[in-house]
Amino acid sequence: MCGITGYIGKRDATPILIEGLKKLEYRGYDSAGIALLDNGKMNVCKKKGRVDVLAEEISKKPFKANLGISHTRWATHGGVTDANAHPHVSSDGKFALVHNGIVENFESIKTFLTKKGYTFKSQTDSEALVNLIAYHYDFRTDESLENRFLEAVRKALIHVEGTYGIAVISKEKPDEIVAARKGSPLLIGIGKNERLVSSDVLGFAGRANNVIYLDDGQIASITIDNCDIISIGNKPIEYKVKEIDWELENADLAGAKHYMQKEIYEQPKAIENAIRGRISDDASTAILHGLNMTAQEMRQVDRIIFCACGTAWHACLVAEQLIEKYARIPVEVEYASEFRYRNTPIEKNTLVFVLSQSGETIDTLEALRESQRKGFKTLAITNAIASTISRESDGGLYQYAGKEVGVASTKAFTSQVVICLLIALHIGRMRDLSYTAGKEIVEAIKKLPNLVEETLQQAKHIEEIAKKYAFNEDFLFLGRLDEFPIALEGALKLKEISYIHAEAYPAGEMKHGPIALICPECPSVIFANAEDVLSKVVSNAQEIKARKGKIIAITSFPEAFEGLADDIIQLPKMHDCVRTIVATVPAQLLAYYIALERGCDVDKPRNLAKAVTVE
Ligand code: AGP
Repeated sequence: MCGITGYIGKRDATPILIEGLKKLEYRGYDSAGIALLDNGKMNVCKKKGRVDVLAEEISKKPFKANLGISHTRWATHGGVTDANAHPHVSSDGKFALVHNGIVENFESIKTFLTKKGYTFKSQTDSEALVNLIAYHYDFRTDESLENRFLEAVRKALIHVEGTYGIAVISKEKPDEIVAARKGSPLLIGIGKNERLVSSDVLGFAGRANNVIYLDDGQIASITIDNCDIISIGNKPIEYKVKEIDWELENADLAGAKHYMQKEIYEQPKAIENAIRGRISDDASTAILHGLNMTAQEMRQVDRIIFCACGTAWHACLVAEQLIEKYARIPVEVEYASEFRYRNTPIEKNTLVFVLSQSGETIDTLEALRESQRKGFKTLAITNAIASTISRESDGGLYQYAGKEVGVASTKAFTSQVVICLLIALHIGRMRDLSYTAGKEIVEAIKKLPNLVEETLQQAKHIEEIAKKYAFNEDFLFLGRLDEFPIALEGALKLKEISYIHAEAYPAGEMKHGPIALICPECPSVIFANAEDVLSKVVSNAQEIKARKGKIIAITSFPEAFEGLADDIIQLPKMHDCVRTIVATVPAQLLAYYIALERGCDVDKPRNLAKAVTVE
């Protein structure tokens, strides 16, 4: 997702804006730019490439300003070029805008404005928006209005279809930033005699301890010491100022080589955070007040739907197996991007969960909204405090995994799976799960941080294996039951950061087609930790071996793969309910080391964004 920062205050805006952009680099981008209002002059500098390239460029210019906006762009409309980078300036030179999201009707807007004499330098949808604001300022707002700038933005946004998080500055009003959001997060930071704007608290560069979260359809007028918010319908909005929990928000490398490495190693702590205060030894269950549901209400639930995207969708697939196994409720898993358009028939006693690390993924947010429009209680599991999805849901659970900076999700995934296990326990103990069975699950969950810690000790061994296979261009990942989603997650990790083509199948499916891929150059990673299907998985491994396929077994039954697997990553013996979480760790490390061996940027993989707020 692109990053936005804005500053108005008494200090030199440039270093603050650049520092804010650097804090947002982890989200993924391909160009960066800045606009500064310096004594009524609009100075803009924008470049494809990294923020450092922009900083280098701007250091050559004598810009001094106390008001500015800046942006890191992840290309949607238009290629990666300097001209397509934000900020975009209206053709009359009066306004500069940065934009996250997509203006879906930008062609019709451009056609209308071109007829009015406006010109365009880029291929972007965002440039249509800044010219639309200029048009409304000049032709559709009363020039005597004190808040003419705000009103022009409001009137322009009424005509916009799609999503936006924007910050706009104007030569006509050099003491004000106008910000607005619809579907793409926009926050206002309150500092001492200064105000900041960003798409993420990190973009405040530590200069604000209090924050206002704009909601969809809200527009803010921000000055050095004030903030007024109106609705798109021009009604004043009462807003709450929240304190930023920097403990949870702060993310630095803390000695690790990469954020992804740091976050893989943070998983024992992330799991502890996920379960803290949510386990009841006495009742052998999980206490989940955040679900906002009484036992009676939960008893009424006879179907559950899970919606998410990407890695979070894989967590939903594990949740499906855990809840069906321990709570005996049928579960369906939907891609959020499909759910919102598929018009799934949902019976009245259906409970919907959405999972999202960032809490801002537009597909998942719209799936939540669609579920609520159909009148269903929709709960969220998110990692980002006060994120849009967490604020709009009917309840839910925070992961408390701490900021996840690496674009490839690691600790957020295992933390989501742990929380889904707690949900399975919670619901199961209201139904047929016995006190004893509940107790076993509680004990297994408590041991989980140590099991993950123990598995992390295999990193050196896994690194050696990674070096053997780092230059294969195809991989198969195979697993049965709840380890098939882990095979999917392992394949996605490898794809995301090493750009190797990797596919995952239920191990039993391999012989129905994918086995055609088996050859010495296409290694298979096999997850084999479910004792009840171990012999079947071993047979699948033998089918691969018979075709000279290489095998990497991730298993707590190494003896079953002696003489069969080319490499074995041994996992500790563990309770069934936690095996998926433990088995994920070697898959994450394997992908990490292969990507390093291939010289890939593990924290900022090409083409990827940390939170995808465009459809
Ligand atoms: C995971 O490694 C990816 N970065 C991506 O698939 C991600 O899981 C997906 O975009 C969903 O993000 P969310 O959890 O923030 O909604």
